[in-house]
Amino acid sequence: MRILGIETSCDETGVALFDSEQGILADALYSQIELHAEYGGVVPELASRDHVRKLLPLIEEVMQRAGCTKNRCAKAEVDAIAYTAGPGLVGALMVGASVAKSLAFAWGIPAVAVHHMEGHLLAPLLETPAPEAPFVALLVSGGHTQLVNVEAIGRYEILGESLDDAAGEAFDKTAKMLGLGYPGGPVIAKAAERGTPNRFQFPRPMVDRPGLDFSFSGLKTFTLNTRDDCAEQGGLTDQDVADIAWAFQDAVVDTLALKCRRALRQTGAKQLVVAGGVSANLLLRERLAEMVAREKAEVFYPQLRYCTDNGAMIAFAGYQRMLAGADKDLKVQVRARWPLSELA
Ligand code: KG4
Ligand code: ZN
Repeated sequence: MRILGIETSCDETGVALFDSEQGILADALYSQIELHAEYGGVVPELASRDHVRKLLPLIEEVMQRAGCTKNRCAKAEVDAIAYTAGPGLVGALMVGASVAKSLAFAWGIPAVAVHHMEGHLLAPLLETPAPEAPFVALLVSGGHTQLVNVEAIGRYEILGESLDDAAGEAFDKTAKMLGLGYPGGPVIAKAAERGTPNRFQFPRPMVDRPGLDFSFSGLKTFTLNTRDDCAEQGGLTDQDVADIAWAFQDAVVDTLALKCRRALRQTGAKQLVVAGGVSANLLLRERLAEMVAREKAEVFYPQLRYCTDNGAMIAFAGYQRMLAGADKDLKVQVRARWPLSELA
């Protein structure tokens, strides 16, 4: 089976062709980061327009790289089109959904709606060795921070989630406060490399309470106060910024690792899957490696380029949905909010 995957939920246009025997045959990604950088976050209207501009050329590029040059060839070679139907920015989702449905209609093949977070969650299964359900998944992106008990592909129980900001969102907002730019994750990690360990002590939110929920908005306030204290004491220096970045990253990573350990112990699972943009964070990977070694468990990630949004994970999740007998009608339905636990 061959599935064309289309991702347009936020600020990346992603396209990939997945083959059930050979894996990902070709994939292409266009990031709108530069477009949104001057605003310090994603501007929904600009995101939709840019998806319109880039999506068809990317589909053409992927089909060509996979050895198909003409529509006729694509029709013969693609069995279904998977697109991200939510959660995400509605205008951006509509672009991907409309293109996917139209192409599917023209080619006479099904279009399959994919949940963006299921895409992230299943991305590590594209790697070898791949984890096998049951496992615990930590989904950490710009919009979500969730611990999920994966009983089987398609059977997801939310064990805990952020009550306010997602971890990636906290990175983005903190970077903005420190004048480091967007997206926040990579720039905070870079600044933290120059940071003085332990100069500032940031709290570990909600670790002293039972349960698996998270809260990251307090760290934002902590950053703001620390920044302003530095500014009052003779001006905010580059070293102050690096030291705050170090303390912030350390606090987020520590909190995530602690809750992952708690989730493994609570479920008895021995496999942890980590996916979503923040899973690219190297300090997080280091801490989780230490933690799973102590717990005699294993941790799995997508390859780095499939940690952030991409078409490959959508193609693969679409394939899994096809195997499970997904709904394939031609209604264009997208959802800005869509709890993972509501997936049938
Ligand atoms: O999964 P993703 O590409 O998009 C969403 O579905 O939200 O995640 C984007 C998020 C951003 O908030 C970004 O700051 C964060 O992932 N991110 C990172 C790193 N790379 C990206 N956070 C921490 N460390 C990184 N290296
Ligand atoms: Zn994402």
